[in-house]
Amino acid sequence: MKFGHFDDARKEYVITRPDTPYPWINYLGNEDFFSLISNTSGGYCFYKDARMLRLTRYRYNNVPTDAGGRYFYINDGGTVWNPGWAPAKTQLDFYECRHGLGYSIFNAGKDGLQAIQTSFVPIGANCEVHRLTIKNTAVATKDFQVFSFVEFCLWNAYDDMTNFQRNFNIGEVEISGSAIYHKSEYRERRNHYAVFGVNAPIDGFDMDRESFLGLYNGFDRPDAVFSGKARNSVASGWAPVGSHCIHVTLAPGEEKSLIFVLGYCENPEDQKWESPNVINKAPAQKLLSAFATDAQVDAALDRLQAYWDGLLSNYHLESKDEKLNRMVNIWNQYQCMVTFNMSRSASYFESGIGRGMGFRDSAQDLLGFVHLIPSRARTRILDISATQMADGSAYHQYQPLTKRGNLEVGSGFNDDSLWLIFGVAAYIKETGDWSILQEQVPFENVEATAVSLLEHLKRSFDHVLNHLGPHKLPLIGRADWNDCLNLNCFSETPGESFQTCANFESGIAESVFIAGLFVAIGPAYAEIFRRSGFAEEAKRALREVRNMTAAILKDGWDGEWFLRAYDAFGDKIGSRECGEGKLFIEPQGFCVMAGVGVDTGLAESALDSVHKYLDTQYGIVLNWPSYTSYQLNLGEISSYPPGYKENGGIFCHNNPWISIAETVIGRGDQAFSVYRKTCPAYTEEISEIHRTEPYVYAQMIAGCDATRHGEAKNSWLTGTAAWSFYNVSQFILGIRPQFDGLEIDPCIPAAFGSFTVERRFRGSTYVIEVENPSGRQKGVRSITLDGTPVAGNILPVCGDGQRHAVHVCMG
Ligand code: BGC
Ligand code: NOJ
Repeated sequence: MKFGHFDDARKEYVITRPDTPYPWINYLGNEDFFSLISNTSGGYCFYKDARMLRLTRYRYNNVPTDAGGRYFYINDGGTVWNPGWAPAKTQLDFYECRHGLGYSIFNAGKDGLQAIQTSFVPIGANCEVHRLTIKNTAVATKDFQVFSFVEFCLWNAYDDMTNFQRNFNIGEVEISGSAIYHKSEYRERRNHYAVFGVNAPIDGFDMDRESFLGLYNGFDRPDAVFSGKARNSVASGWAPVGSHCIHVTLAPGEEKSLIFVLGYCENPEDQKWESPNVINKAPAQKLLSAFATDAQVDAALDRLQAYWDGLLSNYHLESKDEKLNRMVNIWNQYQCMVTFNMSRSASYFESGIGRGMGFRDSAQDLLGFVHLIPSRARTRILDISATQMADGSAYHQYQPLTKRGNLEVGSGFNDDSLWLIFGVAAYIKETGDWSILQEQVPFENVEATAVSLLEHLKRSFDHVLNHLGPHKLPLIGRADWNDCLNLNCFSETPGESFQTCANFESGIAESVFIAGLFVAIGPAYAEIFRRSGFAEEAKRALREVRNMTAAILKDGWDGEWFLRAYDAFGDKIGSRECGEGKLFIEPQGFCVMAGVGVDTGLAESALDSVHKYLDTQYGIVLNWPSYTSYQLNLGEISSYPPGYKENGGIFCHNNPWISIAETVIGRGDQAFSVYRKTCPAYTEEISEIHRTEPYVYAQMIAGCDATRHGEAKNSWLTGTAAWSFYNVSQFILGIRPQFDGLEIDPCIPAAFGSFTVERRFRGSTYVIEVENPSGRQKGVRSITLDGTPVAGNILPVCGDGQRHAVHVCMG
């Protein structure tokens, strides 16, 4: 069942009823100011850091879910409704929510009034703009009131939801003209405030929540709105809010627009005050005056559209499969931008209070983002590597505002640092920018310790080699990619973190997955050093890769598939000898991607086992059989009921690993079948089962051992976005940046037909037409570039800013 449809021409998903199976959200903002906005206008916004600089309050795990947002109430002769349906939930005559690239539009109507709410975060501005255009479609004059509403967060979102003994006393606001100012803590250590303004005279306002709502009412029944009278309240402590009240009269056919701006403003320390206790409003006035007219708002919307059109033109596919086109051209790339911006910090499932940016998460997010804005990828690489430790290990997470490693979680995830090499290799292959390797980057942000990024890569590589176990396989530490396989953390105390509890290092627990990752990234590492003039290091690296491959083949192969790990007692995990957890997805994907066992048939056997034991109609589960009881030696994985999350869930992130592995052995039909099972555009039809947004990936879909098999959770912030784009763009469609050019190596279903990819690469645009007359799944027979045959399958770097016609014939 569907709850809307794609509008590809406008690059929008159109939600046609408000009661979607879960809030279906959009992300606004691309730079420093970000908002989450649901299909009922719920959500929140923040500046730079979802924990530390939160502008509006949001209650997690609320009843009903998704209560709180930026709400516009219309009181039309006693009938109160919202263009986003919630919170009043009055039956609307029509409703539509269009989530587009960086904006959302609500179009709803009731009793002869139509309201269009256009919400977006403009490029280059630290604010949300909400334009409310209201039209009288009735035959008689309409006289009604509009009330706006936002609830302010007292900046630090964690403190805001816990420290009430203080917080109920510190709320402070000001009003001047039509602009409401939230200035809690501005009198002391903050030099920033929030402003909520509207471009029209107001007839009343509220800044105190209880006065506006009434203590015993929810957002659905604000006293001020229902009584048609703003209270002109001024918050003093308790809960500061912003609400404007505006009377509107419209003749039949007449329309009026109101532009609301909710923004973040800073003042220099010595210019905080206009007069004692009166804040300096200059930055706010500047912000409000930038979005005070329809023409300004239209121009900002045009800029936003041009921005996205420009970014998306870096990779554009025309194939016979409309669903594939829309995922590749629009939604997968859009999600990659969001995961790049947020890492795993703020979503409807990640509160934005813990976590921050993940080291491995952000490093992997680069894979789907680097072709969009390489310069930002460069900055991110330098930020991530600056949190690395001198021994090559890494802080698992860092706060985006401070860019400092998070001490609570610390380090000890032994795969982390290898992802840095992965990300840097992807960046250089995309850009040819070798200079990044010479950037001086500190360890743990201590400037005096700075060494070249190249040296950081060496420490990353060596960290694995310095931590090998009894089988010469990498020690796992607290966990590897699978945060929940905690082989050295035996937790018996409820509530403690499975990753950080009394962590002992057995010196025995090893990860075959890290071994596969090491072998996969080793050749690129060696090449980076060879080209940087370190031939010996390159040779050494390749030798270590061979040793690791040998270790995998000797002690990491289980007969039909790759083993997952050895636990702290040296016992096998992911082996047919195990009662549960006999087979895990991760090493099958990574070892095959690394080329291990490809020439001897082991790779094929591993992938066949994946299909035989792990595959379901909704995607491939992580492990089989799921653990049915808690196992001290395994940790969090066995804490989840069977079929959920890392315990037998369809953990979407590593489905693309299998799909890529299939392309490595040339099985295009299989690769595509894996790709489409978790791909949202293909699951749109089963939205009532899947429940999360049909335009973005979710982290997890419940596996076949779960009662709710097929139900997705944790949409938006998942490495699935980057990996899916990396897979489909570089391995299935096979347009793959390499150090020296653009490799063309598609692996597609036999019946896929011809397709064209327009790819901007190092300044030039390659228009690549791929023909497949004999229905091959892999293999390129010939390539021409502007009519001239190309030897091999790597297009040279033209570097001339021009368009080039490429013709590829598979065969
Ligand atoms: C979650 C994992 C996550 C880990 C570390 C666990 O509770 O299930 O998905 O990676 O925490 O934050
Ligand atoms: C989510 C985490 O963000 C990611 O880093 C991890 O690899 C997966 N969970 C699997 O545990």
